[in-house]
Amino acid sequence: MSSFLDVLQGKKTKHVPFWFMRQAGRYLPEYRELRAKQGGFLNMVYNPQAACEITMQPIRRFGMDAAILFSDILVIPQALGQHLEFVAGEGPKLNPVRNQSDLAALIPNEDILNPIYDTVSNVRSALKEEGFADTAMIGFAGSPWTVACYMVEGQGSKDFMHPKIAAYGDPEFFGRLIDMLVESTARYLINQAKAGAQTLQLFDSWSGALDAEQFARWVIDPTRRIVDLIRAEYPDIPIIGFPRLSGMNILDYVEKTGVTAVALDSQIDPVWAAQNLQNKLPVQGNLDPFCLFAGGDALKSATENILQSLGSGPFIFNLGHGINKDTPIAYVEELVRMIKDFEK
Ligand code: CP3
Repeated sequence: MSSFLDVLQGKKTKHVPFWFMRQAGRYLPEYRELRAKQGGFLNMVYNPQAACEITMQPIRRFGMDAAILFSDILVIPQALGQHLEFVAGEGPKLNPVRNQSDLAALIPNEDILNPIYDTVSNVRSALKEEGFADTAMIGFAGSPWTVACYMVEGQGSKDFMHPKIAAYGDPEFFGRLIDMLVESTARYLINQAKAGAQTLQLFDSWSGALDAEQFARWVIDPTRRIVDLIRAEYPDIPIIGFPRLSGMNILDYVEKTGVTAVALDSQIDPVWAAQNLQNKLPVQGNLDPFCLFAGGDALKSATENILQSLGSGPFIFNLGHGINKDTPIAYVEELVRMIKDFEK
């Protein structure tokens, strides 16, 4: 039985299960090699054989307790009809949707997501066939607020000015966009569960951009609705929420969204999390990816602090955000050793 699923089901485990955000990706030479052959990121996302292979790569190297689907949160805007490309060195570019008429002009085609469900079932088979029967499969999507940030801004941003102005200034348009995202994201996650995903994670990378009132409206309420829609079909599937940089709003998030577990960014003190969050639900996190990048004594002491503070309760070790592409693999190996050696 998977210790990752045990933690999410409230059972005690002997070891601390772990996986790393962006564990499949550019820090791995085998990923870079496949990407060069496949001609780019999105080609691999929509190729169930390639995406399965990439999902498996870090599992074979490091033996994580969970494999996360290789895909991206921005496939939902694409399925809603928005043009998307990844420009090398610049990240995602989309044709911005800034008002009702931009929204009305989109022609959705959710069938483009079908290969991703094939990836999920391919990964489940590969895990069994390659002897990783105890490794769980995580499906995921972006949360409506974060996906809307990219849809309205049209690219990454430091402050997401356009979506914030739309949320304050044209809540009718923005609310309609969020409603569309709630519906399509719930369908997408339910289909991943149908294909074999055993846990679902919602990434809300930009939830820290909102004040408390806007957070309640655009993060908590849509997340709650997605959780309810999923639970209507899959009452028992664990759902992990990741309200990144949400600060003290995380307390409301934990209380009101209905998520099974909460993923922590690196700003949250593990001691505080043990006292204020882990007494309510399992937590996941939260080593700073740049501490991993730096390695050495800093990596050792931060990892020990996290394990000492959170390791004896319901806990899944992870990073506080995605692993950086230039992270030395030797440091990842060292981190894995420390987590595996930790005695509860
Ligand atoms: O964690 C995993 O290994 C699973 C795969 C995964 C990817 N993206 C692959 C990816 C997951 C879970 C995501 C989520 C995602 N995508 C988020 C939420 C988490 C977070 O990081 O905050 C966001 C905001 C995105 C949007 C996105 N995708 C951006 C902004 C970028 C470009 C930035 C960058 O790192 O270059 C991507 C590209 C992307 N998604 C890559 C990977 C492996 C790099 C693609 C490549 O160049 O090979």
